[in-house]
Amino acid sequence: MARILIVDDEEGIRTSLVGVLEDEGFEALTAPSGEQALASIDADELPDLVLLDIALPGRDGVEVLREIATRWREVPVVMMSGHGNVETAVKTTKYGAYDFIEKPLSIDKVLLTVEHALEQSRLSRENRDLRIQALRAQEILGSSEAISALVEQIRLAAPTNGWALITGENGTGKELVARRLHLESRRVAGPFVAVNCAAIPEELIESELFGHEKGAFTGAHSRKRGQFELAHGGTIFLDEVADMSLMTQAKVLRILQEQSFMRVGGGETLNIDVRVIAATNKILEQEIQRGSFREDLYYRLAVIPLRVPSLRERREDIPVLARTFVAQCCEASQLPAKAFTPAAMEGLCAHDWPGNVRELRNLVERLVIMTPGTEIDAADLPTPMRVPGALASEPVRSLGDARRGFERDFLVSRLSENGWNITRTAEVIGIARESLSRKIKSHEIEVERG
Ligand SMILES: Nc1ncnc2c1ncn2[C@@H]1O[C@H](COP(=O)(O)OP(=O)(O)OP(=O)(O)O)[C@@H](O)[C@H]1O
Ligand SMILES: [Mg+2]
Repeated sequence: MARILIVDDEEGIRTSLVGVLEDEGFEALTAPSGEQALASIDADELPDLVLLDIALPGRDGVEVLREIATRWREVPVVMMSGHGNVETAVKTTKYGAYDFIEKPLSIDKVLLTVEHALEQSRLSRENRDLRIQALRAQEILGSSEAISALVEQIRLAAPTNGWALITGENGTGKELVARRLHLESRRVAGPFVAVNCAAIPEELIESELFGHEKGAFTGAHSRKRGQFELAHGGTIFLDEVADMSLMTQAKVLRILQEQSFMRVGGGETLNIDVRVIAATNKILEQEIQRGSFREDLYYRLAVIPLRVPSLRERREDIPVLARTFVAQCCEASQLPAKAFTPAAMEGLCAHDWPGNVRELRNLVERLVIMTPGTEIDAADLPTPMRVPGALASEPVRSLGDARRGFERDFLVSRLSENGWNITRTAEVIGIARESLSRKIKSHEIEVERG
C-alpha cells in the first residue's frame, strides 16, 4: 500500500485529501507546514509520494521541494497550486516536481496524477534496480596480491566523493574499475556516463561534454544536454583523458572548482553534482613534461590514484579469468560447457599478454567458438603459446615425467637451433658433449643430419 504525505496548511484540504486517498486504499500522512513535513520524513521509511502545497507559511513549497529533491531524490513530489501561483507551479517541474495540480482540487485529477506519479516512480526504481544488477555482474576477478590491493583501494575510495584517476596498460580493466567505483558509491542510483575523450573530434568535445543551446553554432538545431548534465547525481567516466585538448582540460578543471558550467552558446549557469573518474593508458607525468597535460588538472584528478596491474604482474589470476570467460562465453553462445586442459592452461599462464585481460578474453572467445569438442588443449592455442612437449600433449603423470618431457623438448629445440650439431649444442646449453649424447639416446631423439 503506497504511503502519501500531504503537506498543506489548510486543515480542510488535508482532511478531504486524507478521506479521498484512504478510500482508494492509500495510507495518508499529513503535515501542516514545510518544516514539519521535512522533519517527519524518515529515511528508513520514505513516503512513496508527497502532495505539496506551494503557498505555505514559513518555508514555502518550492523550497521544501528543492530540499526533498536533494535529500530524497527517489521520492516523487506533486505540487498543489492556488490560482495565484500557477506560473510558479510550472517552474517547479524544473526543480524535480513530477507534476502539479491546480486548486480548487478535483478528486479525479488528484487520483489520476497520484496514480501516474506512483507508476512513474515504480518504473524508474525498476530501471535503477536493473542497472544495479547489470553492474553487479561486473566483478573484478582475481585473488593475486596486486588485484586484492586494488579491490581494497576501491572499497575505501568508492564511498567518498573524491575524484579518481585510473592508470594502466591497454585492456587491464580500467573501465571495469571505474564502474566498480560507481557501483560501490552512494551514487549508485544515479547515472554512470562513460565518455571516450579520444573518440570525439576536438571541435565537438565541448558541446559533447557541456551541451549546447539551439543555434549556438551551425548545425545546432536544437538544445542538447551534455554528458556532464546527463551525469548529474552520478558519475562521469572520462576515458582516455590525456587525449583532451588543453582548452577542454581547462574547462573540466573549472567544473571541479565551481561545480557549475554553461552550455555552449548559453548564458545560464548550470549547477551539477558529478563525480569525475578519469582513465588513461598514458604516463601523465610525461605528458605534463611535454606540456600536453595540465599539471593542476592532474593533481585534481589524481586525488585518488588507482593503478591497474598488467596481467603479466599477476599471472596467478589467469586460470580464474580464463575459466570464467570460457563459462560466460559458452553460456552466451549456447554451447555445451568447455574447459581448458592443464597443458593449455599452462600455455596461457606462460604468455605475456601485451593486450592484458582484453586479449585473454578475446582469445578465449575465439577458442570456444573454433574448438570442437569440450576440451581446449594446448594444441588449439596460437603457436607461440604452446608450451613444449609432455606439457602440451599428454596429461602429465608425475613431476619426473614432466621434467623428462620438458628436457626432451628443450634438447630438440636447441639441437635444431644449432643445426643438429652436438658439440655446438652441448656448448650452448652448458653440458659435456658425452652427456648430451647420452641424453639423446635415452630420449630416443632422432638426430637429423643435414
Ligand atoms: N579483473 C577482471 N575481472 C574480470 N574481467 C576483467 C578484469 N579486468 C578486465 N576485465 C575484462 O576485460 C575487458 C577489458 O577491460 P576494460 O575495458 O575495463 O579495460 P581498459 O583498461 O579500459 O582497456 P583500454 O585501455 O583498452 O580502454 C572487459 O571485458 C572487462 O570486463
Ligand atoms: Mg577502456
